[in-house]
Amino acid sequence: MPQSHPAVPPSARPLSRQPSSSSRAGRYDVAVLGAGAAGMMCAAVAGQQGARVVLIDHATRLAEKIRISGGGRCNFTNLHAGPANYLSDNPHFCRSALARYTPQDFLALMRRHQVDWHEKHRGQLFCNDSAEQVIEMLRAECGAGQVHWRTGCTVAEVRREGDDFLLLTPHGPVRAGALVVATGGLSIPKIGATDFGYRIARQFGLPIVETRPALVPLTFDGAAWQPFAPLAGLSKEVDIATGKGKEAGAFREDLLWTHRGLSGPAVLQISSYWRPGTPITIDLFEGEDAAAWLLEAKNGTRKHLGNLLAARMPARLADAWCQAAGLDAARLPHDLPDKALRKLGEALNRWQLVPSGTEGYRKAEVTRGGVDTRALSSSTMMARSVPNLYFIGEVVDVTGWLGGYNFQWAWASGVAAGKAVAENVRAVAQASGDGVASSTYLRTRPAAAK
Ligand code: FDA
Repeated sequence: MPQSHPAVPPSARPLSRQPSSSSRAGRYDVAVLGAGAAGMMCAAVAGQQGARVVLIDHATRLAEKIRISGGGRCNFTNLHAGPANYLSDNPHFCRSALARYTPQDFLALMRRHQVDWHEKHRGQLFCNDSAEQVIEMLRAECGAGQVHWRTGCTVAEVRREGDDFLLLTPHGPVRAGALVVATGGLSIPKIGATDFGYRIARQFGLPIVETRPALVPLTFDGAAWQPFAPLAGLSKEVDIATGKGKEAGAFREDLLWTHRGLSGPAVLQISSYWRPGTPITIDLFEGEDAAAWLLEAKNGTRKHLGNLLAARMPARLADAWCQAAGLDAARLPHDLPDKALRKLGEALNRWQLVPSGTEGYRKAEVTRGGVDTRALSSSTMMARSVPNLYFIGEVVDVTGWLGGYNFQWAWASGVAAGKAVAENVRAVAQASGDGVASSTYLRTRPAAAK
């Protein structure tokens, strides 16, 4: 893999990279905590722009979530990614970072590293070969930024010492002028997810928006689900919706019937909006008035009701649906009263279920909620009240839809923080006139919070 393809355009890079006085003192300009998608991107950008960076992770294998994503092919972005595809208590927060680092920017990086991709569905881009290529690309970008690695390194505690951050680890303390927290969310603890990022936020007085599993299978009560159990394996595109007002979510996606309930992209998408105790509504006719369609067909068709419906859905599903409505699938619609067809149509358009719960963080792809964005600058990701403390990626209260949006947020927020932190280093180096960062770095005004 080539080492000289920058994550940022050459024009944005410093003319020369000189060892900083902080480096001579064994102090880093920036410590990035968490070597996942956001952390690696941030470290690479900051390093390539002249900052001396250390990237720390408690795991020994890098970026495990990239590796397992997209069925091993990593759905690394979505061509249509924009603020409307993200959930947050503060929906405009993600706008600035997403506008400044777009899917096209990430594709340019992929092209420079000769990583081939394809579009699968609705703008979702996957690697042709393997998610490992994305990890290797980011590793090479970190190499180009001369990033120092500390993997298998658990940070027990973060302290403020003077203007520096002091990270206590079993391998000795790490001192840095700035700290970027990129520890991700709570999903899939068995591959290294922890709540450490939220704890650091709380330690420094930053509020947390309540966290919960998102993009997660919903569970359904066994008895209520029993009539649909024989449908396991069927799938159909549906409209699915839940919630009201600002909390409302609605998608057109594939729904999958399983032995345990409903699943597939439709359920994962809506799970991010679902609140316990509330219903989800499924439209098996994707917006078309099913009752009107049945009544129109009543006089013009010689097909049995089951066969008629099978034009719109798998035959087994059509039969099950007639049965649930108390109608014989072998009857001609012509022989059925309008009232019965209207009732069937309404049920097809508005199938309501109340899930009993979710499968939790063990199965969730992401975590909704996190560090409250009102406490962060949307242009730099820096905490407004704590100079040089940054939060990026999934640990922040920005949650994308299914389909590559979460990685796009990780890249965009990582680039925003990486550039901002390096800009601070450069500003101090210029102010000191000798082209090197000094220990006064943190005493200078950080890039203004916006
Ligand atoms: P990420 O979780 O990637 O990295 C956090 C890092 O911090 C980890 O390396 C972890 O070890 C480290 N860490 C945690 N606690 C620590 C501590 N106390 N000390 C030191 N290090 C610590 N998204 C998408 O857009 N397309 C997709 O195809 C998929 N697919 C997918 C599949 C599955 C199974 C999951 C679970 C998730 C996805 N996602 C996805 C979501 C995507 O993986 C996720 O949103 C990003 O990886 C988030 O990037 P971050 O860098 O913020 O966290």
